Amino acid sequence: MTYGFVGTGTITAAMVEGLRASGDATPILLSPRSAATAARLAASLPGVSVAASNQAVVEGASTVILSIRPQVAEEVTRALRFRPGQTLVSLVAATDLGTLRDWTGLDAIRAVPLPFVAKCRGVTPVYPPEPQVLALFDRLGQAIPCRTAQDFDLLAVTSALMGSYFGILETAQIWAEAQGMAPQTARDYLAGLFASLGAEAQGTAPFARLREEFSTKGGLNEQMFRVFGEEGGTAALDAALTSVLTRVRGQ
Ligand SMILES: NC(=O)c1ccc[n+]([C@@H]2O[C@H](COP(=O)([O-])OP(=O)(O)OC[C@H]3O[C@@H](n4cnc5c(N)ncnc54)[C@H](OP(=O)(O)O)[C@@H]3O)[C@@H](O)[C@H]2O)c1
Repeated sequence: MTYGFVGTGTITAAMVEGLRASGDATPILLSPRSAATAARLAASLPGVSVAASNQAVVEGASTVILSIRPQVAEEVTRALRFRPGQTLVSLVAATDLGTLRDWTGLDAIRAVPLPFVAKCRGVTPVYPPEPQVLALFDRLGQAIPCRTAQDFDLLAVTSALMGSYFGILETAQIWAEAQGMAPQTARDYLAGLFASLGAEAQGTAPFARLREEFSTKGGLNEQMFRVFGEEGGTAALDAALTSVLTRVRGQ
């Protein structure tokens, strides 16, 4: 068993670090481009080496993980020769299983690992829910098995809320600073507040109920969400989700 990564960028580095942090000792082969990242990982982690080419990664690995950007994916992938029966995991956004089969001749498994996999705190949608690939992403946090391609696409859309999450923190910090608050005070408070809210969101309580529990009738939280909606906040979020879904579906 060897994992081979084609593309040694942000997500590959996070997965490789997470795999070693999880105690998974499976040998790892990296593609040579992004030489600095590949060399850093190989030098700092046991069982990680840099292959001579993308094809050498495919030949040396039992499980190949495609971790390149969509813009170059077809050119890079079509140039590779895979073995029948080889496990192929694609992290490439907006590229469906039919397209991957056309490029490689293989039935791939798609996944959306996020940077938290480096600390084994990922939540990773996997489709189809192949047991060996679910086990891989469970070691990096939690795999989320998807029953349908539609479910997988919808989770990929919601994963794109990460920038907006930090954008809300940033907007609130800038607003507080404009009222005269020291930047570090605003930052410390907002980071702690949202970390505690994230912990509350774990579990099974419906989000609508949590919103009500955290909003006193006639209080400040209720007013905040009401005005946010009245000013188009929730409609804007809805429109953004729909626009990203169009892109995720490659339309
Ligand atoms: N980052 C995220 O949070 C995230 C989340 C979900 C999904 N994804 C998906 O995961 C994939 C990887 O994302 P990423 O953030 O890791 O991207 P990234 O940091 O840009 O990494 C992509 C890597 O591919 C390399 N590359 C380019 N052409 C290549 C070639 N011909 N052969 C081998 N490697 C080549 C790049 O090298 P150079 O730097 O030398 O060009 C770079 O190291 C993308 O499809 C992305 O949509 C990412």
